[in-house]
Parts: sequence; C-alpha cells; structure tokens
Amino acid sequence: MKLAVIGTGYVGLVTGTCFSDLGNEVTCIDVNQAKVEGLKKGIIPIYEPGLSELVLRNHEEGRLQFTTDAAEVIPDADIVYIAVGTPQSDSGAADLSAVWKVVEGIAPHLREDALVVVKSTVPVGTNGKVYDMLKKLCGREVNVASNPEFLKEGSAISDFMYPDRVVCGVRNEAAEELLQTLHAPLVRTGKPILFMSPESSELTKYAANALLATKISFINEIANLSEKVGADINDVRIGMGHDQRIGFQFLFPGLGYGGSCFPKDVRALASLAESLELHPKIMRAVDEVNVHQRASLVRKIDAFYGGDVAGKTFGVWGLAFKPKTDDIREAPALELLSYLVEKGAIIHVHDPEAMENVQAQFGDKIHKYCKSEMEAIDGADCLAINTEWNEYRTPDFKKLKAKMTTPTIFDGRNLFDLGTMEKHGFTYFSVGRRP
Ligand code: UGA
Repeated sequence: MKLAVIGTGYVGLVTGTCFSDLGNEVTCIDVNQAKVEGLKKGIIPIYEPGLSELVLRNHEEGRLQFTTDAAEVIPDADIVYIAVGTPQSDSGAADLSAVWKVVEGIAPHLREDALVVVKSTVPVGTNGKVYDMLKKLCGREVNVASNPEFLKEGSAISDFMYPDRVVCGVRNEAAEELLQTLHAPLVRTGKPILFMSPESSELTKYAANALLATKISFINEIANLSEKVGADINDVRIGMGHDQRIGFQFLFPGLGYGGSCFPKDVRALASLAESLELHPKIMRAVDEVNVHQRASLVRKIDAFYGGDVAGKTFGVWGLAFKPKTDDIREAPALELLSYLVEKGAIIHVHDPEAMENVQAQFGDKIHKYCKSEMEAIDGADCLAINTEWNEYRTPDFKKLKAKMTTPTIFDGRNLFDLGTMEKHGFTYFSVGRRP
C-alpha cells in the first residue's frame, strides 16, 4: 500500500517507519526541511531505541522516503495519515491548529478513493470536523477515519509491532477493509483490530490514558499515606497487584506522571467534559494529585535542609521524564532543578540521554553536566534521583558513600532496598516508605 504520513514527530515517524518495515511504500512529510534532510541520513531528532536503524534500513531499501512536498506525494497515496502535534493550549484544551493546516493543505491533492486517517490525539468530535472540512474543501465526500496510537516512548517500536489491540474509528466498509489489510501483519498473534465509530475511537484513546494516569495518581496518594502510617508502599502495591482485577501495571509510585501525553490528555479530557457542562471531578483530581506529587522530592529536600540549600552540592541522577527517552517535557526533574537554581544550590547532573535538552533549558545555571553518574556525586552533599534508568539501580554503595560529603539520598523512584541503605549507613528518603 502507498502511505503518506504527515508530521515526523514521535508518532508520525514511528508509524511511517514501522509501516514501511512491513513492506508498504511510505513517504513521511514534514514542513521542516532540515529535519527531512537529516532523516534521509538516519538522523532522528528524538532518542528512541532502534528507530534510527529502522529509518536508515527502510530508507536505503527504498520503502521509506522523506519530503517537504505534500503536493507531490498525496495524489498517489492510498492512505494519508495525519500525525501532527496537538499541544496543550493556554486553556488546557488541545491546540488543533496544525491539524487544520494539514487538512487545508492536502484537500486539493487527495485521490478520490483515498482514506484520510487521523492518528494525532484529538478531542472527541475532531474526526467529524475533519470530515466536514474536507467535504467542503473538496466539494465531495472524503473518507476519514480515526486510528489512535498507544505507543510508549522508549518502547515505541515493539508497542507498534506487537500491539495489545488496534483501534479504528471508521465510517464505512471501504475504510474498514483498508485498515484491516494494513494492520493484518500486526495482529497475527491473535490480538484484535477493533472497529468502532470515530467518536468512540477518539474517546478510547483519551479514556485509556486518563485511566492509566488515574492509577498513578491513586498509588501516589496511597504512597503518601503509607509514609504517614508507617506502611511500605512496595508491600502494599504487591499486595494489591496480585488481585487480577487490579494487576501490577502502572501502580509504581514516584514523582507523578510526566511526558507529552498523560498531563496534556487528562486536562484535555477534563476541558472537553467541562465544555459540555459536565463536572469531570476524577480527572481534575488526578491532575491535581499529580501536580502535587511532582514537587514531592522538593518538599522532602526542603524539609530536611530547613530550606537552606544555598551552596550545598546536589548530585542529580535522571532528568528525562522516564527512562529510555531524552524527553524532558513535564519531567519532575525540572521542578527539582528550578528549586535548586532558585535557592542557589550547586548542581551536578547526569542523565544517559536527556542532558542536551536540559542544557538547552538551564544552560550554565547548572554547574556541571557529568559524563557518568559517579562524577555527578563527587563531593556532593546529597544525591537526588528523578528517573529510574537501569544503570542507577545497582551502584557500588561503598564507592558512592566515599564520594559524598554526607551520605544522603532523596530517591523519587524507590530504586534501593531499605535494608541495604541502612547497612551502608545512608540517610535515605524514598516514596511511600519509612525515611
Ligand atoms: C503513554 C501511554 O502509556 C501510551 O499508551 C500512550 O500511547 C502515550 O502515553 C501517548 O498518549 O502517546 P508515555 O507517555 O510514553 O506513554 O509513557 P508511560 O510509560 O506511559 O509513562 C508516563 C508517565 O507515567 C511517566 O512519567 C512515568 O514515570 C509515569 N509512571 C508510569 C509512573 O509514575 N508509575 C507507573 O507505574 C507507570
């Protein structure tokens, strides 16, 4: 099949690349010339394990092209994917301006039997608006479907290739047939392609993210309670998770959810409900708990030092919002760094992938961007951990202690065992466990 994928951000690039790897002829379109030129050489603007190799291979084998010229590609496409960003606007609702611009741009070039698929996360009803707009612009009906993505940063390729399910919102059999054929190789393991209305499909995406975010805010609230009552959230989490109705996933307490999806999607869903005169109390509470949780490490540090961290040296491990990404959007680390900068602390940071992004934002307000995690704690008064990168899980504690002036750890991700910390003589603060 011939596909045009508009937007080479995270979703568009993974979608286009994976579909080309499955044998389709894919052209990814982006307005950014420099990005397009880089992609042709396998230079990808984000860190995603395995993606660069896959881009390069499929490009070299001729199945994956990159261009800025939509007019050249759209007339040939069986399916046109819209995968541009839908950032949060000032009101909290999703900003759809990029989507409308794409719709206007593709309308004159669409083949009569082409299927337009909205892959971007868009508020319920957007698919209908795209359909109406294209009908007006083209002077005829255009087939428009919804196909939300459920990729996680850091494991996007395997999430794409082995999905739990594929959700498609369609208006007719032609769209169903095309999407069935396109996705058939992805569900050979027996996982379903679920066909439903575009509205149901759009809502499924938001509802899934909102429920996962709810699990996280819920366990964080229980973790905070655990600290007060002397329980250990790890035991509580495992005790809960064995109930198959609850399960283990997305019940890890921490510093709240970050990234480009959960915070934005929870607020967009709440905004949508409010615009329809509903009162989305759960979603608003989930967001509120999360905002509070993101500052929980700062509160612990502030309480321990009585607000006086000026001149103290902080080793900071982990800056990305989660491991295996360089993404720092809505990362809890930003909260900590802002606090430390404001208070005049000396900051030494390490992250395997996200340092450039943090440097672009904080520059020389951070005193040292370290090549290794051990360098970051050299001479430090304490260590603060924001991201659970695997390489942080089993440090040489004796070496760690020897390098620090006072062995104090503020761990936002519960990386270490309480007994081990005690044995090595660390003052150790974690989440939902006794200090
Ligand atoms: C999320 C969803 O998991 C994907 O299914 C969805 O496609 C994507 O949003 C999207 O809408 O594009 P992602 O944001 O990449 O994916 O990352 P997750 O692995 O879901 O983590 C989100 C946040 O929750 C991170 O900040 C993570 O640290 C936090 N989290 C996750 C916890 O605090 N505890 C957990 O148990 C799990």
